[in-house]
Amino acid sequence: MKNQDIYILAIESSCDDTSAAVMRNDSVLSNVVATQKIHEEYGGVVPELASRAHQQHIVPVIHQALAKANIDKNQLSAIAFTRGPGLLGSLLVGTSFAKSLSLGLGIPLIEVNHMQAHILAHFIKDEKSGQPEFPFLAMTISGGHTQIVLVRDYFKMEILGETLDDAVGEAFDKTAKIIGLPYPGGPLVDALAQKGNPRAFPFPKPKVKGLDFSFSGLKTSILYFIQKQTAEQPDFIEQFKEDICASIQYTIVSILMDKLKKAVKQTGIKRVAIGGGVSANSGIREALQHAEKEKGWTTYIPKFEYCTDNAAMIGIVGFLKYREGAFTDQRVSAKARYNIPDQ
Ligand code: KG4
Ligand code: ZN
Repeated sequence: MKNQDIYILAIESSCDDTSAAVMRNDSVLSNVVATQKIHEEYGGVVPELASRAHQQHIVPVIHQALAKANIDKNQLSAIAFTRGPGLLGSLLVGTSFAKSLSLGLGIPLIEVNHMQAHILAHFIKDEKSGQPEFPFLAMTISGGHTQIVLVRDYFKMEILGETLDDAVGEAFDKTAKIIGLPYPGGPLVDALAQKGNPRAFPFPKPKVKGLDFSFSGLKTSILYFIQKQTAEQPDFIEQFKEDICASIQYTIVSILMDKLKKAVKQTGIKRVAIGGGVSANSGIREALQHAEKEKGWTTYIPKFEYCTDNAAMIGIVGFLKYREGAFTDQRVSAKARYNIPDQ
């Protein structure tokens, strides 16, 4: 071990994935994620079940992360954990565990804001994807979040817009449920959309001021549309599944792209980074490639494993904060609502 190397154990438990990662500086040595399958039966995350599953998973996940990294807990420099935002019961599991471990090992504790981590995941050392230069725009799109952030520096961030109701991933999942697809429906809508006509069924786009988003109206209009069509033609969904998915995806992607274009215009910044589970979507990826060619944007998408909820993104923030000596004391508690701090 080189003297200057920093080893961080990072813990993420804000929603339904229990994850632990070991970092050597800005490199990921291991990143273990235990996804909770139990929620599939319910068509969405059940908070109480999520907390219980975190309790069952956290010890084996941390053991695995240390073993894969080939690091002994006594070599660790600090423990980083997700303080919020997220489900309180889930956050409490990771927070309590991190606090105890840091106390037991006598090493510093570092709290991490989950939304900031989605953005700083772009700085995980990775040969393939480039790291954005400051300032840049970051759009985090997942099952829990939809946010556009102006990133001036690692810890200088300003939220420009966010969703007023459902997150974009929820919009995918809830509309998928309407047409009978299992949870989480986002990837299935994406797969079916590729074989359909995106302009088959035009759905209205919400009129929301500024850079904020709203997706609940879209869900309702799709529900009414499907109810009306199936009343006239009972096998409507079966017959037009691909066109319906393509039309839903087209509408959601254009809502996201309209706001991104507005943010670029407003700030004059053409470096655009996206993250969160929905960045796997083929429609948004295509739209971003198009904007690179047509509008001269530079776009950044981290490796998929760093887009969905994972502890490596908590670990990179842990490393960046460690360098600054930004430690947390034992009185810290989990925070279900926790905006990105502008330090
Ligand atoms: O980041 P993530 O794993 O967890 C949250 O923090 O929510 O994101 C999961 C969300 C789900 O809503 C899922 O349906 C959506 O990301 N998703 C997709 C695709 N892959 C995952 N949505 C649309 N197209 C995809 N290919
Ligand atoms: Zn997330």
